[in-house]
Amino acid sequence: MNKLNILFVTGFLMGLFSCTNVSEKTIKWKSYSGDPEIERKVDSVLSLMTLDEKIGQMNQYSGNFAATGEVSDNKSGEYLKKGMIGSTFNVFGADHIRMLQEQNLKYSRLKIPMLFAADVIHGLETTFPIPLAEACSWDLKLMERSARIAAEETTASGVAWNFAPMVDIARDPRWGRVMEGAGEDAYYGSLVARARVRGFQGIEDYEDLSKPNTMMACSKHFVAYGAAQAGRDYHSVDISDRTLYETYLPPFKATVEEGVASFMTAFNDLNGVPCTGNKYIFKDILRDKWNFGGMVLTDYTAITEMIAHGFAKDLKNAAKLTIDAGVDMDMISEGFVSHLKELVEEGKVSEEQIDVAVSRILEMKFLLGLFDDPFKYCNAERQKEVVMNPEHLNAARQAAQRSIVLLKNDNNVLPLKKDVSKRVALIGPFVEERESLNGEWAIKGDRSISVTLSEGLDKKYTDSRVKFTYTRGTTLPVIDPSTRHVSTKQVPDKSDFSNAIRIAGNSDIVLVAMGEKFHWSGEAACRTDITLPGNQRELLKELKKTGKPIVLVLFNGRPLDLSWEEENMDAIVEAWYPGIMAGHAVADVLSGDYNPSGKLVMTFPRNVGQIPIFYNTKNTGRPFDEENPTDYKSSYIDSPNSPLFPFGFGLSYSTFEYSGAKISSDKLERGGRITASVEITNTGEMDGEEIVQLYIHDKVGTVTRPIKELKGFQKIHLKKGETKTVEFSINEELLSMYDIDMNWVAESGEFELWLAANSSDETNRLNFSLLD
Ligand code: BGC
Repeated sequence: MNKLNILFVTGFLMGLFSCTNVSEKTIKWKSYSGDPEIERKVDSVLSLMTLDEKIGQMNQYSGNFAATGEVSDNKSGEYLKKGMIGSTFNVFGADHIRMLQEQNLKYSRLKIPMLFAADVIHGLETTFPIPLAEACSWDLKLMERSARIAAEETTASGVAWNFAPMVDIARDPRWGRVMEGAGEDAYYGSLVARARVRGFQGIEDYEDLSKPNTMMACSKHFVAYGAAQAGRDYHSVDISDRTLYETYLPPFKATVEEGVASFMTAFNDLNGVPCTGNKYIFKDILRDKWNFGGMVLTDYTAITEMIAHGFAKDLKNAAKLTIDAGVDMDMISEGFVSHLKELVEEGKVSEEQIDVAVSRILEMKFLLGLFDDPFKYCNAERQKEVVMNPEHLNAARQAAQRSIVLLKNDNNVLPLKKDVSKRVALIGPFVEERESLNGEWAIKGDRSISVTLSEGLDKKYTDSRVKFTYTRGTTLPVIDPSTRHVSTKQVPDKSDFSNAIRIAGNSDIVLVAMGEKFHWSGEAACRTDITLPGNQRELLKELKKTGKPIVLVLFNGRPLDLSWEEENMDAIVEAWYPGIMAGHAVADVLSGDYNPSGKLVMTFPRNVGQIPIFYNTKNTGRPFDEENPTDYKSSYIDSPNSPLFPFGFGLSYSTFEYSGAKISSDKLERGGRITASVEITNTGEMDGEEIVQLYIHDKVGTVTRPIKELKGFQKIHLKKGETKTVEFSINEELLSMYDIDMNWVAESGEFELWLAANSSDETNRLNFSLLD
């Protein structure tokens, strides 16, 4: 469409707003913006729409319809020609989307622009580390920035609505989707959720959505999707309201407070009611309690799935349950577009329900500026300029460095200094692995260009005194597409074992890169065994026999069971899936050019039997004391209770000493504030960063409280030998909880707190009480 046509569309719509003289809202809907001018515009368009056109706005497809409108597997072509598609997702490219928008405008009687959406979970073409990894940076500014960069690239490529952030709390590493979130903690997860929303929406206030480089964010998946039974994706969730409120709702609430524009339903049923048809969570909590005025969209075919859930008898019934729950847009199911009209004619759904949903959708299109210029996000020149520009690539490298967690480093085997002569045996399937480095959700990240470990090391150590000799050692097991399980036919490949052992034997140090293939985590990628896949551990056992020090670098999307590795490796570097700059970032860490600073945001168990395992557990009536073991206590006979690596844990090449912990008063008055502080000294040989954490325990409550809860943290940079004081402020709000009647209050009584390096660090403990 050329400029003249844009003028035509804009002019047509302007005329349309002015000729319908709607002075105040004609239907009862609470707008997202609260702006009467926008509400008036929405009403004026709505008043001209037929019922079919309204229902069309509530219909969303994945981007597989051809521009000609021909399609194979759904009716998108047919509905496109009727002007009955409100939104399309997972299509990209300024020119391509321009063409699709032109098609839409050709058929839309009222020239209502289509809204293009996508899953840009961790970068568009500049792929950042997977969200779980990035969360290990504990660097909120960094996460906001990576979301901002994702928005810059995405909005230049035609898309103005992101299906992110995923803010599901996850306590079960068997569940593949742990890689998409920020880990196990509600407090920390809420802060990360806010940072990502700010980054995508660029938001100061709702008007920012109209800027050409900001986009709508979408909090997903509402709610408790991460509590799937047995860590199996899409499985049922049965939890108490208390757990819902304490653990799973907070990050979602935080995004509402941050101004998120949309929500997505979850696939799971929650206490017997599938989320997509769940009035309690959408009407009572999201709309009424939290006053959310934005849009709600279903997850992929989630309306249809309510039939399989045994909650709806057919698609028509499912569509009614969905709109009754307060959901506005149907992703893929064609439940709304096929049945809402009939339901209205039968009086089972009111036209006002439809009007409310459509108003929310139209409001977003107005706020994004699409009515003024439907091609606003189709700027091929800007796309060329911003996508993967050097600044973005540099940010991706920094993000990857900061996401890496050093789990073990005995005898300072790392860093591998460039100026110290070493023969390094470089072994493992991830040395040259490229396609996994972006992780599962890299929707447009080109898997053929991410920097491999081998390339990163080559670049880093050229002209150094370190010499590498490489062999792959083993291959990764594959999933048999016909059974969707790990292939049982594949014979574990040991053909390169002897070569690997020989090379290791001739080296000073062995550097092994292992992990999970990228599609072993993510959606529908759950595991019952979370050790290193295939015969990778077996190879490690052989290498161990050489007696050489071994550094293990891991590329994976979930906490793994590393119990054998923790005991037998000299160093372990958790690199996750670091994104496009993977090899460079890992080489930066291995060489010591970057001193690792990440800490875990999800507990690493000793074995799957401990799952679910998370740091903020309850004490029980019979707590087990590892130091003083007695019978009939809450313990296992074949494993300690403690995790292998706790939440908040991560090492540096430096060491940090905590001293002088103190509290300004051991009594906190209502409405008052006390401070807890501790001095941190970098006692190591390198400059570095430390993440200092504040944990609090409410000793007696009207309901039992977790043994500790994260309530604050600071990431500080310390030069070698430098000391800094870190201070946390404590007030009533920080101590508040849902009491026995589910009121949000701080209960008087005794508390203890820790100023700690991780959630298992008990060294600096202080006591105080909250007065009546
Ligand atoms: C996922 C969502 C995603 C949607 C669209 C679903 O399978 O659960 O997170 O946004 O697909 O791609």
